[in-house]
Amino acid sequence: MPPLELLIRNTSEVITAHGSPTDPAESALAPLTGGVVGIAQGRVVYLGLEQGLEPDAIGPGTEVIDAGGGFVGPGFIDPHTHFIFAGERSGEFDLRNKGASYLEIAQAGGGIMSTVRATRQATEGELAELAVPRLARMLEQGVTTAEVKSGYGLTLGDELKMLRVVHLLSRTQPIELLPTLLCAHAVPEEARNERGRYIDLCISEIIPQAAEAGLARYCDVFVENGAFTVDEGRRILRAAQMQGMAPRLHADQLSRNGGAMLAAELGALSADHLEQVDDEGIAALAIAHVTATLVPMATLFLRVKPYAPGRKLRDAGVNVALGTNVNPGSAMSENLGVTLSLACLENGLTAAEAYFGMTRGAAIALGLPEAGQVVVGGRADLVVFNCSSYRHLPYHLGVNHAKVVVKSGKVVVRATRAGMGALCR
Ligand code: NIG
Repeated sequence: MPPLELLIRNTSEVITAHGSPTDPAESALAPLTGGVVGIAQGRVVYLGLEQGLEPDAIGPGTEVIDAGGGFVGPGFIDPHTHFIFAGERSGEFDLRNKGASYLEIAQAGGGIMSTVRATRQATEGELAELAVPRLARMLEQGVTTAEVKSGYGLTLGDELKMLRVVHLLSRTQPIELLPTLLCAHAVPEEARNERGRYIDLCISEIIPQAAEAGLARYCDVFVENGAFTVDEGRRILRAAQMQGMAPRLHADQLSRNGGAMLAAELGALSADHLEQVDDEGIAALAIAHVTATLVPMATLFLRVKPYAPGRKLRDAGVNVALGTNVNPGSAMSENLGVTLSLACLENGLTAAEAYFGMTRGAAIALGLPEAGQVVVGGRADLVVFNCSSYRHLPYHLGVNHAKVVVKSGKVVVRATRAGMGALCR
């Protein structure tokens, strides 16, 4: 074992999360009571009890972090975000609270197209600057990896611009960012009467050029009334698969539209939203091993029940991941704690299932075999919390308990917030 650079000790437990998503979640979290974590060269090199450490493991170069009886777990992974955008839509929030629907607002020229207009006007530097505080809020809560979508450009140039911003931000702040091309987020207003031409543009130019420049790891389509049909989604995602991008979908969000079935047919990594999915769709996801990524913040924010059937999905053997879906329209919040609470209160998950869904379950949703767990040899992305159990995270609604955040073995957050105070037991 190399000499430790970091040792995290005095924990209530280390949640290793190395179990399978089909195990009961409490055993999938595989906790190590009173464990310590030793880190060197960006990796976990020791996981066990303090007595088991070799005598010379701790040296003058070892920083010791006292967890103060708090628990330690994997860095959070947010598998569904849209945090690169310009402009804001607080007016739409008011309109919805007065009774207007998301689709009505979109049909009147607001919605996604309103953010598209603002994002097209912005330079790469401006978009990056706007995203920095959003990323800081995510990091502060313990997010060490996040997926992020384009989809507010909807021209070749503007979609590639958004993806370049993701790459720029990946180099300049600690959260690892995994880019998704979402040119099929909406048919842009200038192409309303020639949607076939826009879909051809996606297939023959935007996808190949994004692939050639190595800008996107995944491709996503919003399959929905007013956005793209199942057939259009199939064509676009097959083209993306041919270019090496893994498919993911916005499926069965506002209407039951066959999105989950398409995700299963294509062997997508994930079908996201699923508020309206039916039993047939759930069974298809289970058989095809497609993750269901739930984003309950959007259900709350848009005031369109039902919430996605998380309980049924888990019981059918589907891996259930959770994302914040942070975006200016349907979920203007980076708060993953609220997402965890909603997953328990409204999607029917247990605290253990919700916590697994934002760690290991989310890693599976992104096709990351190593991530979302604390294991010897694995990357040292972890969080020390100011509470004794993961159960406090959904229970203490909207409160951030992350105290120390470690990314690739480096301490990137040391919380000094007012209110951190004594440990929550
Ligand atoms: O995941 N549903 C589509 N896309 C986003 C909303 C984007 C927006 O309204 O700007 C979502 O909820």
